[in-house]
Amino acid sequence: MEKTLTILKPDCVRKQLIGAVIDQIERAGFRVVAMKKTRLTQETAGEFYAVHRERPFYGELVEFMSSGPCVPMILEKDNAVTDFRAIIGATDPAEAAAGTVRKLYADSKGENIIHGSDSVENAAIEAAFFFSAEEVVRAN
Ligand code: RTP
Ligand code: MG
Repeated sequence: MEKTLTILKPDCVRKQLIGAVIDQIERAGFRVVAMKKTRLTQETAGEFYAVHRERPFYGELVEFMSSGPCVPMILEKDNAVTDFRAIIGATDPAEAAAGTVRKLYADSKGENIIHGSDSVENAAIEAAFFFSAEEVVRAN
C-alpha cells in the first residue's frame, strides 16, 4: 500500500482543527499509520524544507513552521501521494478547489494548514524525518 507524509501545520493546531482535518482525511479513505504532536525548531524546519532554501519565502516558511506545535502523520492508501494532494488542494487557498482542506481552512499561501508529500520517494524521506521504524505500525 502506498504511503504519504502529511503535517498538520502550526496554524491548523492553533485553530483547533486537528480533529476536523483528520476526519476529512479518514473519510477520504486514508489510514493513519503513524502520528505525533511535535514542535519543529528553526533548524529542523529549515532542514525539512531545505529544497526551498533559495526561494524568497523560505525565511517566512521556516519561521511559520517553527511557530508552534504541528502534527505529522504517515498515511496509507492506494495512490496515496496523488490522492492526498488532491484532497488538500492547491498551495494557495485562493486557487484551491471547493471542498479541499486548504480551501476550507487556510488563510493564505504561506499559512495553508497542511503539507502533503509531492512524490513517493519524498514521502519515504519525509516519513523517516519524523518517525522511527518502531513508530510506524500497520494501519489495522
Ligand atoms: P507543502 O510542501 O507544504 O505540501 O506545500 P506545496 O507542495 O503545495 O507547496 P511548495 O511549493 O512545496 O511550498 C511549500 C510551502 O511553502 C509555503 N509557501 N509560501 N508565500 C509564498 O509564496 C509561498 N509559497 C509557498 C507554503 O506553506 C507551502 O505549503
Ligand atoms: Mg511541497
